[in-house]
Amino acid sequence: MPADHTPTLPTVAIIGAGSSGIAAAKALHERGLEFDCFEASDRVGGNWVFDNKNGMSAAYRDLHINTSRDRMQFSDFPMPRSLPDFPHHTQIAQYFDDYVDHFGFRDRIRFETAVAHAQQREDGTWRVTDGDGRTREYDMLVVANGHHWDKRWPEPSFPGSETFEGTQLHAHDYRDNAFLTAKDVVVLGMGNSAMDIAVESSYVARTTHLAARRGAWIVPKYLFGKPLDQISTLPHVPHWLNARISETIIRLHTGRPERYGLPRPDHRFGAAHPTVSGRILDRIIHGTITPRPNIAQLGPDWVQFADGTRVHADVVIYCTGYRIAFPFFDEDFLSAPGNRIELFRRVFKPGHPSLAFVGLLQPIGAIMPLAEAQGQWIAQYLRGEYHLPSPRAMDAEIRRESRRMRRRYVASDRHTIQVDFDTYRFDLRRERRRGAARAAAAGHTLPVPARVRVEEAAPA
Ligand SMILES: Cc1cc2nc3c(=O)[nH]c(=O)nc-3n(C[C@H](O)[C@H](O)[C@H](O)COP(=O)(O)OP(=O)(O)OC[C@H]3O[C@@H](n4cnc5c(N)ncnc54)[C@H](O)[C@@H]3O)c2cc1C
Ligand SMILES: NC(=O)c1ccc[n+]([C@@H]2O[C@H](COP(=O)([O-])OP(=O)(O)OC[C@H]3O[C@@H](n4cnc5c(N)ncnc54)[C@H](OP(=O)(O)O)[C@@H]3O)[C@@H](O)[C@H]2O)c1
Repeated sequence: MPADHTPTLPTVAIIGAGSSGIAAAKALHERGLEFDCFEASDRVGGNWVFDNKNGMSAAYRDLHINTSRDRMQFSDFPMPRSLPDFPHHTQIAQYFDDYVDHFGFRDRIRFETAVAHAQQREDGTWRVTDGDGRTREYDMLVVANGHHWDKRWPEPSFPGSETFEGTQLHAHDYRDNAFLTAKDVVVLGMGNSAMDIAVESSYVARTTHLAARRGAWIVPKYLFGKPLDQISTLPHVPHWLNARISETIIRLHTGRPERYGLPRPDHRFGAAHPTVSGRILDRIIHGTITPRPNIAQLGPDWVQFADGTRVHADVVIYCTGYRIAFPFFDEDFLSAPGNRIELFRRVFKPGHPSLAFVGLLQPIGAIMPLAEAQGQWIAQYLRGEYHLPSPRAMDAEIRRESRRMRRRYVASDRHTIQVDFDTYRFDLRRERRRGAARAAAAGHTLPVPARVRVEEAAPA
């Protein structure tokens, strides 16, 4: 490449223009970095685009956010005050669309261009191939492909599920309750998909059974006249103390879950991803949802539960969560078996300085402001204003963090990327200050050398 064309800063490919990808794109745009953001769909917003043509959205017709408006909004682009505390998915999708226009980087997004393959070369640069076989090269790859689209089915499947003559579907494919009218429905799971879908079913189905292998502490969306997630926890107060206070408040407010016939949680409050529902307990005490233990087996038109009870069933909806997947990486390069992926502060992979992830975390609180902070961190890094610790130090921190998480959370594939919203932001700010001092001491060299230009793709 001729010297006068050599860029001064590294060039970047971002995979995904959901809320995480656009947060990263905005940060790079603002800091003068050259990038292409690849988006499989014709729109930004990912999961929040109902019936998204990428086939990856889990949004159902009546989906409202369960993290409140003020927790979810980006720091420099408040959601309109005219929106409710828990807006509808259409309002959230509109907000993300407006964000891109407000900050003016829509032209950096390559719509309807899915990344089929991303390959790192020996020198650390990336060769990105789209679905039409066209390739482009970049210095850095930022992955923001979302982690709520690859359905996790019960494994192994329940005995007899192959003989069931009704409909079995995963929550990801649920759109609305019309097809449940006058049906006998079994909903499996105790996460937020199960709560919402069981409630929706309860208005139209003949019967709705909510089956679960484990109990959960169910928290309302509102407490003390405000959204629950706006009652802040303090980063320096130990987690166990925050959790005990919250558990006491929930027990005073709603009582123990088993009082509603739900399974008794096998863990203390705070040891599982929060199950948020202002409606489920109401529907249970109205007799429109019947709590059940786990599914034991299925027959042609029935479901039997672990306690031996059996009900007639037309539909079984598996709200059993999602797998983390990167179909564009060679599996021997990087995958996430059992949803496990070891990253420094959930962004950098030690030993791979030209690779970063955004939004690959499951906060107690909303993902968006954390993705925003991650994007700013990556921009700071790419400009040589932040230097990472050594791979050894990062590995040690990753091990410490995963020990902490293992001690704290119920062992489940859904608890592999958990973070606390306030603590994560606090730790990240501190880390960015430390890394800025390291960068200054090293003379602000670029951790990712600027080698390739953003240019038109080579044909297939
Ligand atoms: C039903 C449901 C409700 C939720 N509610 C909340 C909530 O209230 N609050 C909250 O904080 N979180 C919530 N979440 C979590 C959800 O993951 C985040 O809200 C948010 O969607 C994460 O954004 P993302 O950009 O990381 O992923 P996504 O929204 O999934 O976006 C990923 C984007 O990447 C694109 N993409 C993927 N692969 C490729 C590829 N190979 N090439 C090009 N483009 C690609 C996709 O087309 C998509 O646009 C919810 C999740 C579900 C399933
Ligand atoms: N309104 C909203 O904003 C909204 C609505 C829906 C979802 N969401 C979000 O979307 C994400 C995914 O939520 P989700 O509810 O779909 O998934 P999830 O949180 O991963 O919950 C999956 C549930 O299925 C259970 N499960 C998994 N495998 C099972 C098996 N083989 N047999 C029996 N039970 C099994 C899990 O139990 P264990 O705990 O025992 O593993 C858990 O109760 C979360 O971030 C959630 O907050 C938000």
